Amino acid sequence: MECPTKVCLASVMIILIHTVMTYDIQTIMEIRQIANDETWQSRIINGYPATEGQFPYVCQLLIDKTTIVEMGIIREISLCTCSIISAKWVLTAGHCIMKTNASLEETVEYSIQCGSIYADNQDPDFTRNVSESNAFRHPNYNENTLENDVGLIYISPAFDLELNSSLLTSIPINCPPNITDFESDYLTVAGFGNIYTNDTLPTQLYWTDELEYMNKLDCENDWQFQALPNSSFCAWDYTTPASSICNGDSGCPIITPDIIQVGIGSYGANPCNALPQGFTDLANEDVCHWILKRTKKGH
Ligand SMILES: *[C@@H]1O[C@H](CO)[C@@H](O)[C@H](O)[C@H]1NC(C)=O
Ligand SMILES: *[C@@H]1O[C@H](CO)[C@@H](O)[C@H](O)[C@H]1NC(C)=O
Ligand SMILES: *[C@@H]1O[C@H](CO)[C@@H](O)[C@H](O)[C@H]1NC(C)=O
Ligand SMILES: *[C@@H]1O[C@H](CO)[C@@H](O)[C@H](O)[C@H]1NC(C)=O
Ligand SMILES: *[C@@H]1O[C@H](CO)[C@@H](O)[C@H](O)[C@H]1NC(C)=O
Ligand SMILES: *[C@@H]1O[C@H](CO)[C@@H](O)[C@H](O)[C@H]1NC(C)=O
Repeated sequence: MECPTKVCLASVMIILIHTVMTYDIQTIMEIRQIANDETWQSRIINGYPATEGQFPYVCQLLIDKTTIVEMGIIREISLCTCSIISAKWVLTAGHCIMKTNASLEETVEYSIQCGSIYADNQDPDFTRNVSESNAFRHPNYNENTLENDVGLIYISPAFDLELNSSLLTSIPINCPPNITDFESDYLTVAGFGNIYTNDTLPTQLYWTDELEYMNKLDCENDWQFQALPNSSFCAWDYTTPASSICNGDSGCPIITPDIIQVGIGSYGANPCNALPQGFTDLANEDVCHWILKRTKKGH
């Protein structure tokens, strides 16, 4: 449903004024301990289920962290989204790359599941499990400020992009000149958001194409003048009800109508669609040059 931009924004501003202190920047990654039996309820809010082949470069990323403790084993699964940028690399948020604590017996394994709108796809042609030594995050990633929130995972064996490009293809990275060049476009996001209880039910890819670039001053205004990471830009759905990215969409691509990836899902508020969301800016030099350099270097 369309509605006049200013009216919608005004109603949002009123909400903000009354709840000033309740919004914290939070990563939009979802973590669940296997032992807990909880239903994850969030996914792209007010979006649409994707159809098969609509986003053949978007994959689910599961991060499986196991810690051996005195009492037994703690297994924690985190959910993110990633995009295939070449046969050998997927791009995600830096906070989706987990570093293990050397003083603990911990291991991390990444499971990249592509080729389907359903997250339980186990087809070996479209699925790769990757050890932590093949996962990289930006050297200047800051977990407190979310500055440089970008990560890369090396895929081995490489994906066969010739296999079926309607199911599996790449969205190559070309550092976009400046996100402001796309300020009049509607931007699309697609992410795996939710996972259901008990792992057996499929999770479906959701999307929305109603986000628009918002300049930093307006965005920081909405965020009650909290400093937002310089390496990020904001996007917002000005319509009502507002669609947004949400938990589990961390690392998802945000793309232009010409299918250029301009950002990576990074942070939001709680509730997810209450405030503009933050995307790591691929036009940012530190971000994009690191991607180009790191992927050139190999694993
Ligand atoms: C690593 O684990 C040890 C032992 O539990 C803990 O004291 C330390 O704070 C942890 N370090 C980090 C960076 O989490
Ligand atoms: C890959 O990881 C997923 C999720 O952790 C797991 O279900 C699957 O069994 C793993 N596959 C292989 C071949 O190890
Ligand atoms: C690719 O996958 C789609 C959907 O499963 C299928 O309809 C199509 O025939 C496949 N194409 C090839 C070349 O295998
Ligand atoms: C998850 O599995 C447990 C054990 O099998 C079952 O008791 C529970 O009802 C399931 N939850 C859902 C939402 O299916
Ligand atoms: C972000 O950019 C502003 C303006 O250039 C600068 O004042 C600020 O220190 C930067 N913040 C960080 C964390 O680099
Ligand atoms: C994009 O352009 C705006 C306006 O000219 C400028 O303020 C901003 O620093 C530019 N961003 C990048 C990443 O070059």
